[in-house]
Amino acid sequence: MSPHNIISEIEGLGDKTAKKLIWNARTALGMTEFITAGDIDENTEYITTGSSELNRILGGGFQTGKLTEVYGPFKSGKTNLAHTIAVTIQLPRKQGGLGSAVAYIDTENTFSKEKIKRIAKRFELDPKKVLSQIFHARIYSSDHQSQMIQKAETLCKTRNVRLIVVDSLMALMRVEYVGIGMLARRQGVLNNMIHGLSRIAETYNCAILLTNQVSTKMMGMFSANDAIGGNIVAHGCHFRVMFKTKGFSSNNSLKRRAVIVDAPDLPPEEAEFYITSVGIADTEKGDVPETKGLDFEVETLFEEEGEVQEDGITTDATDSEEYTLIDVKGIGDGTAKNLAKNGIVSVEDLLNTDPETFASKISGISSKMINEWQMNARTLLNA
Ligand SMILES: Nc1ncnc2c1ncn2[C@@H]1O[C@H](COP(=O)(O)OP(=O)(O)OP(=O)(O)O)[C@@H](O)[C@H]1O
Ligand SMILES: [Mg+2]
Repeated sequence: MSPHNIISEIEGLGDKTAKKLIWNARTALGMTEFITAGDIDENTEYITTGSSELNRILGGGFQTGKLTEVYGPFKSGKTNLAHTIAVTIQLPRKQGGLGSAVAYIDTENTFSKEKIKRIAKRFELDPKKVLSQIFHARIYSSDHQSQMIQKAETLCKTRNVRLIVVDSLMALMRVEYVGIGMLARRQGVLNNMIHGLSRIAETYNCAILLTNQVSTKMMGMFSANDAIGGNIVAHGCHFRVMFKTKGFSSNNSLKRRAVIVDAPDLPPEEAEFYITSVGIADTEKGDVPETKGLDFEVETLFEEEGEVQEDGITTDATDSEEYTLIDVKGIGDGTAKNLAKNGIVSVEDLLNTDPETFASKISGISSKMINEWQMNARTLLNA
């Protein structure tokens, strides 16, 4: 199922041999015969998302064998969905899971073990066991991302992985390939990733979640959010779901809306769901059952996270962090927001950041600036 040019590049295999090998392999697998439509194997399985409404508009849950793109603005719940299904897939089939493992490709450094533990507890699973079935890779470049997508296939073969999460698909590419001149190359890399994932989805009947950011387009007086990545992502994904934060009475609401934007066999429906401390749910308060034997305090963990404000900057910090980012000389409101978007939400985060690596990811912020902020942060803490 690999494209011809990839096989022919293998040393010692010319163009002809590659072609012959591929054709013979297809014949061996019975792929060179037409079958009647009645014999098509439709073995789609469904993973519960934690919200029955969201399951409903998805046609029964998050589907295997297909690529699903979930796009939406900052804090719309994409990472929360990724965490939730990384747990629910481990449930037995009767409870909405597949009893399977997960490969989690994390390009934004937003994976949280604590969140996973809380969600596990909600579904009455052993947090430790759940963590052991999530294979996590922190990604630093788009090339690294391609490599780990390929590696994830091995996990499907050997570790019963039936869900691959890429959170998020475009974040690194967006900063690595800047400007129109780089577009063709970027789309080439993207095309390979999408194709590779598509093939894995089909071969292993694996579910794939790709989260994506949006860019805002102005159309006269109105603005609209559109997923980034262009046609390759749009056409390459079987399901496209948009998450929305706007349109609710309170800005601090954790209510979100999901819209089916494109799906071969689903109506363009909308659903409302909530982000809770225990993942995606139907109500504001995720239900946490009183399970004995799991020595795990949900309340304390929730408190530890602090209160996340509208702009995503943690304010109600733990004792060691009495200052917020805007207290650091040189960091204004806008910069703090920009940093928060990229995973630096506290002074402590700032101090733990490697300036070179971080600067290479974010346009407009140089390693020199970060060095200076770190120095100012140290001065602030010492004072
Ligand atoms: N413990 C919690 N309880 C309730 N809500 C939470 C909790 N933790 C995070 N949230 C909320 O979840 C939202 C963030 O959601 P999430 O990280 O899934 O967004 P996202 O769509 O992945 O955003 P981004 O594009 O920045 O990656 C924030 O609005 C935050 O207030
Ligand atoms: Mg996210």
